[in-house]
Amino acid sequence: MDDVLLEMRGITKRFPGVTALEDVSLVVRRGEIHAICGENGAGKSTLMKVLSGVYPAGAYDGEIRFDGRPVHFAGIRDSEAVGIVIIHQELALVPYLSVAENIFLGNERRGRGGLIDWNRTNADARGLLASVGLDENPVAPVIQLGVGKQQLVEIAKALSKDVRLLILDEPTAALNDVDSAHLLDLLRRLRDRGITCIMISHKLSEITAIADSTTVIRDGRTVETLDMASGDVTQERIIRGMVGRDLESFYPDRDSAPGAEVLRIEDWTVWHPVQPRKVVDGASLTVRAGEVVGIAGLMGAGRTELAMSVFGRSYGRNISGRLYLHGREVRARTVAEAIQHGIAYATEDRKRYGLNLIADVRANISAAGLGKLARAGWVNGNEEIKVAEQGRRDLNIKTRTVLDVVGTLSGGNQQKVVLSKWLFTDPDVLILDEPTRGIDVGAKFEIYTIINRLVAQGKAVVVISSELPELLGMCDRIYTLSAGRITGELPVGQATQESLMALMTMEKELAG
Ligand SMILES: Nc1ncnc2c1ncn2[C@@H]1O[C@H](COP(=O)(O)OP(=O)(O)OP(=O)(O)O)[C@@H](O)[C@H]1O
Ligand SMILES: [Mg+2]
Repeated sequence: MDDVLLEMRGITKRFPGVTALEDVSLVVRRGEIHAICGENGAGKSTLMKVLSGVYPAGAYDGEIRFDGRPVHFAGIRDSEAVGIVIIHQELALVPYLSVAENIFLGNERRGRGGLIDWNRTNADARGLLASVGLDENPVAPVIQLGVGKQQLVEIAKALSKDVRLLILDEPTAALNDVDSAHLLDLLRRLRDRGITCIMISHKLSEITAIADSTTVIRDGRTVETLDMASGDVTQERIIRGMVGRDLESFYPDRDSAPGAEVLRIEDWTVWHPVQPRKVVDGASLTVRAGEVVGIAGLMGAGRTELAMSVFGRSYGRNISGRLYLHGREVRARTVAEAIQHGIAYATEDRKRYGLNLIADVRANISAAGLGKLARAGWVNGNEEIKVAEQGRRDLNIKTRTVLDVVGTLSGGNQQKVVLSKWLFTDPDVLILDEPTRGIDVGAKFEIYTIINRLVAQGKAVVVISSELPELLGMCDRIYTLSAGRITGELPVGQATQESLMALMTMEKELAG
């Protein structure tokens, strides 16, 4: 039997003013895990949307052969009918439906008379959940699950459709190391069952660990396909393909000389909005001028809740504790107050809080700092464009013009717009929540360079990150958070991944 499952030849896809893909080829063998790498905006997600029928036949040029036959999908249902299932970069589960309802959405288990058979739905869901290693109650609303588990539910959903080719677009971007490892294990098991998998990822360590082949895309063109079985394809080698040159280091150098204290919080406590428990429990921390302070914690440890409550977002309730800026106690109960006090919070969840996806790049970048552009209530439009252009240059945002709608930018470039927006408010304290999620290696270096520049100007920077090497590479000091409590504080010179992990998981002893 032919060992090629999928062949895409000469794929060209244009959007108004942009050629996203130009003559791209991709050959995927049966039963392999095939990685796709490339910089932000290289065209990875677009290629997978062409493959899965999101962009129907006729909307692109080129040829797709699946299982030896040419295919022309008019929509995603057609690709699913032959066993191609895509899990998009932005998860698509319906938050308030149950796990089981999500798994069988559009593919309902019906009994006689066409009514949904709930017993079968939940029993089948339980079986599928077990096959991805989840022990969740099928009737629980999906929103109660963390991102890691939601990702597994997406895969369970794919398995319910008899998947032959599973496409994952940055499946581990939002996952911590533990959840990522779990997911990669699952992909290996699916491979053993004969399921072919295409995975897009910016985490090159995962690719070298799991992929059988890697195709590199640059500026909408295929650069090469690397055979990973040979064992000598390194991360450096993949990077060279992605950016066309060697990358000297992952982290720019910085002279660290922290000055006076800028931010201090004391005994900060936040209650869960509905459940009777504290999500942040008596946290105290300080950040000095010219200092980068990291916050390490597992998913659900309360990192984001801590940051959002300091920033005046009323996620939780009954927020108590003291907040000092430059030694003076202040109150920042709303976002507007927080911005006035010089605090900025760049969110990890760009879809929900960070961006207006249907507005243009310019409006998004200026949104939090309009006060600086307005005279007598009028926004100076020319200034606004200049500011947006500056942001675009500083962060190397890949967009045709700053008047393009943000929703048409690639995932990583949207993330850069979020950063740009908060940089423009020129804050004293900048809180970055997962700033490099979904960002390619080259762009990460650019973001680190910008952090260094802010620090050199005497700004205080707080970085929340699930990637411990990133915290170790960028921070002066790192706090660990576990179950809402600060469990440790280490100067970076004394911290290792192991010591941080130990502090991040020490909830049990402290809980009493
Ligand atoms: N709907 C659209 N309309 C206009 N341009 C688009 C649209 N979708 C994608 N593009 C453009 O096509 C190019 C490729 O985008 P794509 O999302 O495929 O990149 P990517 O490789 O997935 O990047 P990332 O790693 O950031 O997710 C980008 O220049 C993007 O702005
Ligand atoms: Mg993408």
